[in-house]
Order: sequence, then structure tokens, then C-alpha cells
Amino acid sequence: MKRSILVSGGAGFIGSNFVQLLLRQRADWQVVNLDQLTYAGNLENLSAIEKDPRYAFVQGDICAQADVARAFAACRAPVAVVHFAAESHVDRSIQSGLPFVRTNVLGTQVLLDESRARKVERFVHVSTDEVYGSLGASGKFTEDTPLAPNSPYSASKAASDLLVRAAFHTHGFPGLITRCSNNYGPYQFPEKLIPLMIANASDDQPLPVYGDGMNVRDWLYVEDHCEALLAVLERGQPGEVYNIGGNNEYPNLAIVRLILATLKKPETLIRYVKDRPGHDRRYAIDAGKIHRELGWEPRFRFEQALPRTIQWYQANSLWLQRVRSGAYRDYYARQYGRS
Ligand code: NAD
Ligand code: DAU
Repeated sequence: MKRSILVSGGAGFIGSNFVQLLLRQRADWQVVNLDQLTYAGNLENLSAIEKDPRYAFVQGDICAQADVARAFAACRAPVAVVHFAAESHVDRSIQSGLPFVRTNVLGTQVLLDESRARKVERFVHVSTDEVYGSLGASGKFTEDTPLAPNSPYSASKAASDLLVRAAFHTHGFPGLITRCSNNYGPYQFPEKLIPLMIANASDDQPLPVYGDGMNVRDWLYVEDHCEALLAVLERGQPGEVYNIGGNNEYPNLAIVRLILATLKKPETLIRYVKDRPGHDRRYAIDAGKIHRELGWEPRFRFEQALPRTIQWYQANSLWLQRVRSGAYRDYYARQYGRS
């Protein structure tokens, strides 16, 4: 069936992987990408498809009604929305929470209102497992785990989830919420653990590990995540929440060591630095619901997908260089106290 997908934040890490996957897998679909191009938005991520006649880019802010209206004007009916645009980095939210409230809360409400006014078919809100807070040594987050966000980032994402929930309950708006674990793969901005460690190790720079390095995350290859989002977009039930996870828990230190070993770099590059304030100890996802109801499960094994990711950053060292020479440097100095 011919349809338009309005993607917000399509120039970011997951959004750009999703746009490419959609154009590969759905020949009849058109994609309009609304992105403000903040520090995290990079049109180079989309250079492979920018000339595809089924793709259009609109630069704009999801908080600005006029920008969102311009993006909808570029879509043909019927329209579905996949909402990625957000401030996404926890450490930045600790430095300053306001941009997170603006984009993640206000921006989501603007996008919801404009989508409802245009009677969009479906609105997939891409959220995070961080809204559930932190786990002890055992147990997993289910869709019924109470929300207990601990950082300004996760609090703003939880607020946006509740706005989507409210739109469904109040207006019968066809919103669906996904909550996924830590993604890794091509085009991830090198402020997040895996690309930062690959970039630093490649340059023989120190690898900053927060605290004791034993915080645990569940790692999900970005292509698996994008396939899960497509399943929710096409077959999910409005009003429902779907957890998406990789079944793949590792402590940070193990990841850092794996990266060093793959790149044949010494462990003496590891630097234990001051812990992240309020650092969540462990995340783990129970993704049983999406498996049972939509038949999705991850296809990539970490043992293959991590080396594949490292190879991607090596083969795309120019991409990495250009990203690292931009605004990223100022932020890096503030976060780690040097340039
Ligand atoms: P990202 O930071 O790489 O990209 C965010 C994109 O949104 C950028 O292209 C940026 O330019 C755009 N953007 C920011 N503010 C905007 C605004 N006001 N208007 C329009 N565009 C704006 O983020 P990501 O890692 O690709 O994450 C995408 C989504 O997935 C986010 O909502 C995030 O909360 C969620 N998520 C990410 C992860 C992860 O591991 N990366 C895990 C769970 C959930
Ligand atoms: O769980 C999903 C979330 O995963 C998403 O909602 C967020 O958008 C995404 O940024 C990510 O959040 P995390 O805080 O888990 O990811 P990050 O890559 O920043 O950190 C992963 C772990 O590594 C965390 O325990 C902190 C640690 N870390 C991170 C950095 C940047 C370090 O030890 N050193 C570092 O320099």
C-alpha cells in the first residue's frame, strides 16, 4: 500500500538507520524527514538515499507548529508518524535539563497536536527503557513496570510517554509507545559509550569509564531495533506499549575490554573517572510481548555485531573525523575537562 511516513529526527543515529531501512524494505512508501539538525543531526548519515525520489528532507523544529505543518505538507496521504526527535544524551541532561524539557516534552505535544489535527493513521513514539529507572542484580523491565525515571533525560522521556498515553485515552488518538534498550551500530554520535570508546581507542586516547565500570546495559543492534519499529508501525495495537531489547546484558567494562581487544589496543588506555551523578546501575528488558504479539526478536548476535560496528567506524573514519571536529569538541571539554 502507498503511504507516507513522517519521521522526526531522521538525521540522528537511529532515525537515519530507520529511514534507510524503510526505503530498502517498502518500495511504495514515501519518507519525509523533519529534523532541526542539532549537534546530533547529520545529513551525511543519509547521503546514500538523499537523491531517492521517495525521500524528502524538511529542516525544522518539532516545537514550532509552522515547521511541523511544512513537513506534513510534504507528505501524501495516508500518513503515519515515527517520532525519534529528542535530546538523547543523559550526560548532557545532567549539565542542562531545559533543552530536554523543551524538545522532548513540548516538541512531542506539538507533534501530537498537529498529527491529531491531520488524522494520522498511527503515531509511533520512540521511547526508552530508562523511563523504568534502575534494576538490582536480577529481574527485567516489563511494560507494566512502574515509571521511575532518574535523570532529567529519562524524566523528560517519561513525560512524553504520558502525553502520548493521554492523547490515546482522551482523544482516541492512535499512539503507540516503544521502549528500547541501548542501541549500537553505524552513525551513532561519538558521545555514547560504544562509538566514544571505538574513536578514542583508535586514536590511542584514554577510555573514560565511569565509576567501577560495572553498570550493566542491554545492548541492541540498531538494525534489529529498526525492524522492531517497523513491526510496531505496521502491526502494533494503538494505545499499547512495546518493550524492545537485545537479550544481551554486559557491564560497561566488559564492552570496553572487548573493543580494546578487537582493535588490538592495550588495557592501559582505560581511565576510571568520576561516576555519572545518579548513574542507573542496571537495565534489562523483557521483550516477550513484542515477540508473542508481533513475532519480532533480535537477529544479530553481539559477538558478530560489535566487531561489525567497529569495522564500520574504521571504514568510515572520515565521517568520524568530521563529527569529532565540530561542536562535539566543546561539549567534550566540558564533560571530561579537556579538549
Ligand atoms: P540522536 O541524538 O542521535 O538524534 C536525535 C535527532 O533529533 C537528531 O537528528 C537531532 O537533530 C533531532 N532533533 C533534536 N531536537 C530536535 C527538534 N527540536 N526538532 C527536530 N529535530 C530535532 O538520537 P538517537 O540516539 O537516534 O535516538 C532517537 C530516539 O530514540 C530518541 O527519542 C531517544 O530518546 C530514543 N532512544 C535512543 C536510544 C539509544 O540507545 N540511542 C535508546 C532508547 C531510546
Ligand atoms: O537505555 C536506553 C538509553 O541508552 C537511551 O534512552 C539513551 O538515549 C542512550 O543515550 C543510552 O543511555 P545510557 O546513558 O545508557 O548510554 P551511554 O552510552 O551514555 O552510557 C552507557 C553506559 O556507559 C552508562 O552506564 C554510562 C557509561 N559510560 C558512558 C560514557 C559516555 C562510561 O562509563 N563512560 C562514558 O564516557
